[in-house]
Amino acid sequence: MDCRGGGWEIMATHTIAVGNQKGGVAKTTTAVNLAAALALENKRVLLIDLDPQANATSGLGIEKVPGSSIYAALMDECTVEDLIRPTSIPGLELVPSELELAGVEVDIARSDQHLYRLAKALRGVHGSNVYDFIILDCPPSLGILTMNAMAAVKQLLVPMQCEYYALEGLTTLIEVVDQLRTSGVNPGLGFAGVLMTMYDSRTNLAEQVVSNVRDYLGECVFNVMIPRSVRVSEAPSFGEPVVTYAPGTAGAKAYKDLAFELMERCARGYHFEIAWDHGDEEDDMDSGEELSESETDVEQEHEEAPGRDSTSDGAEEKAAL
Ligand SMILES: Nc1ncnc2c1ncn2[C@@H]1O[C@H](COP(=O)(O)OP(=O)(O)OP(=O)(O)O)[C@@H](O)[C@H]1O
Ligand SMILES: [Mg+2]
Repeated sequence: MDCRGGGWEIMATHTIAVGNQKGGVAKTTTAVNLAAALALENKRVLLIDLDPQANATSGLGIEKVPGSSIYAALMDECTVEDLIRPTSIPGLELVPSELELAGVEVDIARSDQHLYRLAKALRGVHGSNVYDFIILDCPPSLGILTMNAMAAVKQLLVPMQCEYYALEGLTTLIEVVDQLRTSGVNPGLGFAGVLMTMYDSRTNLAEQVVSNVRDYLGECVFNVMIPRSVRVSEAPSFGEPVVTYAPGTAGAKAYKDLAFELMERCARGYHFEIAWDHGDEEDDMDSGEELSESETDVEQEHEEAPGRDSTSDGAEEKAAL
């Protein structure tokens, strides 16, 4: 099914948490650019910054203001609707974050129904059918905020960096999802997909990693891969996602393609369950042999130079499927 050119509708609000307890794998970059790309396709999108680092907030050029984060809604002091604000991208709205959100870990951990706080707070927004997509940018941990996100959404989108330790931690994540499902906290939770990020097609390593991950996870892995690109990494410093900051670049095109692939999956009702039945293979992958010298050299050789016009654009074009 080709979903370009419209002609089909998103019938319900899709709630997607962008999560991976590993740090720096492009969760925020993906949440912001996916949300923006969907909005550019005339979808109504609410992005919720659930990370006290507030990178999604600053990446959209929005000031971090104490009292503006979802903390107050989680503490029943206001509604989520009170906290929603517009962004410079039509159709994209944001619940910002701020450092105060870090307090949630302590403040709601001991309270009743602490895993359901976000699900409960989102009921009104979800029920109003105002949005086609609600996207949550999770912090790099499996703490209270991420658990609340996973209790509140239907799907988890897992960015995975194209690096040697890509699969590290995935078993834990799958186990947590399983526990949330089987314990009845969120029986309908599934995976929207795994997204390979920071792909550099000029290295053998990236190719090997992608091939390994695809072998293990099959069709759960999105066809689209996000290429490594200076444009993607510099866009937040201009307060914009790359899809508006440098729309013609391969990184931007890849995120637009991701939006299409996700919409296509949603329209088909895709819902992946990952069963990890590969024995010690994750360990093998994590602790396998050292990188060969030539692979290390290739990686260093192609290290991106900041300020270069479009970095690995050659690679980006190859990589943006
Ligand atoms: N495709 C890409 N090409 C180059 N750099 C990238 C790309 N995607 C992300 N980055 C950079 O990698 C770093 C980590 O990205 P990001 O902040 O999105 O990861 P994260 O998983 O949200 O991190 P954290 O775990 O701290 O929340 C950032 O500096 C970002 O600009
Ligand atoms: Mg982040």
